[in-house]
Amino acid sequence: MKKNTNISKRVQQIPKSAIHEMTRLSKEIDDVAFLSWAKPTSDTPIHIKEAAIKAIEEGLVGGYSTSSGLPELKQEIAKKLMRDNNISTNASQIIVTVGAIEGLASSVLALIDPGDEVILPTPTYSTHIRQVVISSGKPILVPLIEEEGFALDIEAIEKAITPRTKAIMYCSPNNPTGTTFTEKELKQLADVALNNDLMVITDEAYEYFVYDNSKHFSIASIPEMSKNVVSTYTFTKTYAMTGWRIGYLHADEEIIPSITKAHIPLSICAPVVSQYAALAALKGPQTCVEKFRKHYLSARDLLCDRLDELDSVFQYVKPNGSYLMFPKIIVEEGKDSASFCKKLLRQAKVSTTPGIAFGPTGESHLRVSFCVPEEEINKAFDRMEEYFS
Ligand SMILES: Cc1ncc(COP(=O)(O)O)c(C=O)c1O
Repeated sequence: MKKNTNISKRVQQIPKSAIHEMTRLSKEIDDVAFLSWAKPTSDTPIHIKEAAIKAIEEGLVGGYSTSSGLPELKQEIAKKLMRDNNISTNASQIIVTVGAIEGLASSVLALIDPGDEVILPTPTYSTHIRQVVISSGKPILVPLIEEEGFALDIEAIEKAITPRTKAIMYCSPNNPTGTTFTEKELKQLADVALNNDLMVITDEAYEYFVYDNSKHFSIASIPEMSKNVVSTYTFTKTYAMTGWRIGYLHADEEIIPSITKAHIPLSICAPVVSQYAALAALKGPQTCVEKFRKHYLSARDLLCDRLDELDSVFQYVKPNGSYLMFPKIIVEEGKDSASFCKKLLRQAKVSTTPGIAFGPTGESHLRVSFCVPEEEINKAFDRMEEYFS
C-alpha cells in the first residue's frame, strides 16, 4: 500500500505504543494471563452510576457545560483539594478536563513553545513524553536513581537545565515504577523550579493509592509555588472511572485563561454526564476508595511474594504507590525488554509491558500491574515459574 506522505513530522516521530502493541499481540493468543494494563478492573461504584442515570433522565446532559466545568463540580473539587491535597484554592483555579490526559495535553500546549525543553525524570509515563513531542517541545529525560528506590536525582535535574528549559513534568505515585516521591524530594524540586523560574506540571493520578508509611505530597501545597505549578488529577483511578473520561487540573488564576484556550479546541468541555457522575463521586461515601486501596495493597504483597520466588530472574524496588511495579530483568535475555516481553507472551502466555516503553532508562525492566484479581497474578506467576525453571 502507498504510504501517505502528508503526516506531520511531529506525529511521525512518535513510536508505536508498546502497551497497545502488547495488547494487540495478546489478543492473538488464547487464555493469556494479563498484567499489562494500568486500568482498574473493578467496575465504577453503583452510587456514581445511578447519579449519571438520574442526570440523563432529568435531561441535564444533552448540552455543553461551561468550558471549565459545572460550577457545583468545581466547588466540590476545590473542597477536595483543600482537604486532601492541602492546596489553598477556589473554583476559579480549576478546569474540569477529559481525564487527566487532556488536562496534561492542554497544559503542555499552553506552556511550551516549539523547541522548549521539558525535563522528565524517567522512567515515566510514556504519554507525557509524547505530549511534549506533539507540542513540538523537546523532552529531556533525566534518570531516576533506582538504587535509592527510584528517587529524584536533584543534582542531575539541575545540571540538565539550559536557557531553553521551560518545565519539569512528573507523575507521583509513578507509572511505571510504583514509587512515590517524598515531601523532602519535592521540596528540593520546588527550590530548583523557583530558582530557575520553571513551571512544574504534575500528574497525580494515583494520589490515593499509597502504601506502608508513604504519604502523597502535592507540590502545589507549597505556598511559594502557587504561580509555578499546574497539577492534574483524575477520577479514572480513584473511583474506577476509566471510560468516563473525567479529570481536572489546578493552576494559578492568572494562567487558567491560557490553559482554557488550549482546552476548548481539544474538547469544548468534559463530557457532561461524566461531570454529574464525578460530582456524585466526590459528594458520596469514600469507602470505595479505601476498598480499592486495600485490594491493591494485598495484590502488591502477593506480587512481591511471587517475585521473590523468581529472584534469579528479577530484582525489584517494592512499590509504595499506584498499582504498578517495575522489576529489573537480571538474566541476559532481559537486556532487550521488548523481545523478552514478546517471548514471555508467546511461550508462557503472560502479558507484561516492556520497560523500554517508559524511556531508555526503562530498558531491562518490565512493568507489571497489580490492579487485577489475585487469581490473575497467581496464574501469571505459576506460568512464569514453569517457564524459567
Ligand atoms: C500516570 C497516569 N496518568 C494518567 C493516566 C490516564 O488518566 P486519565 O484516564 O484520567 O486520562 C494514566 C493511565 O494509565 C496514568 O498511568
